[in-house]
Amino acid sequence: MNKRIAVLLSGRGSNFAAIAAAVNAGLIPASIAVVVSNRAGAPGLDHARALGIETLVLPSPGITRADYDSALAAELQARSVDLVCLAGFMRLLSPSFVRPFAGRILNIHPSLLPAFPGLDAQKQAFEYGVRITGCTVHFVDEGLDSGPIVLQAAVPVLDTDTVESLSARILEAEHRAYPQAIALVLSGNYSIEGRRVLRPKQ
Ligand code: GRF
Repeated sequence: MNKRIAVLLSGRGSNFAAIAAAVNAGLIPASIAVVVSNRAGAPGLDHARALGIETLVLPSPGITRADYDSALAAELQARSVDLVCLAGFMRLLSPSFVRPFAGRILNIHPSLLPAFPGLDAQKQAFEYGVRITGCTVHFVDEGLDSGPIVLQAAVPVLDTDTVESLSARILEAEHRAYPQAIALVLSGNYSIEGRRVLRPKQ
């Protein structure tokens, strides 16, 4: 049966665009059922509409986190979503959302976790002076950027880099890594032992 993905975003949506392109190219055997944003003006929504994908805006002001997350979970369950992909969704998700979708939520983070969790990860890495950073696709649990790691890609930090040039190269790595990780998770061809996401031996 065709798997159904939901993408949650708050802004630009370049990772969503990369996922949508990979779906269209047949690299991800699934369809994008809905793109959800907490911000009505998120540019990623315009791209989704242009692709004919359903969009849903769920603003959060005035709603408790638990109520918001329950409403979000209900919307996705109503659309029979199999996998939730966070792509620049600028909200922490509480147990009200994480529990019903346990093991079925992915996030992409612009550093090699567990280094530099939280906001401005590229700037954190740049200012720390690491020589290698990158991106991480991980399962989402109830912590901050803390679930089991599916895939990482390394990006060297160059002497000539600025935060902006480094961020741009990390973003290119994200656009390759996220579709690969989604395809792996949708294939079901992995097991989780402790924190380790393992591929079966070929
Ligand atoms: C990316 O850097 C991603 O790693 C982080 O938020 C940013 C989203 O960018 N979680 P975009 O909206 O996908 O362009």
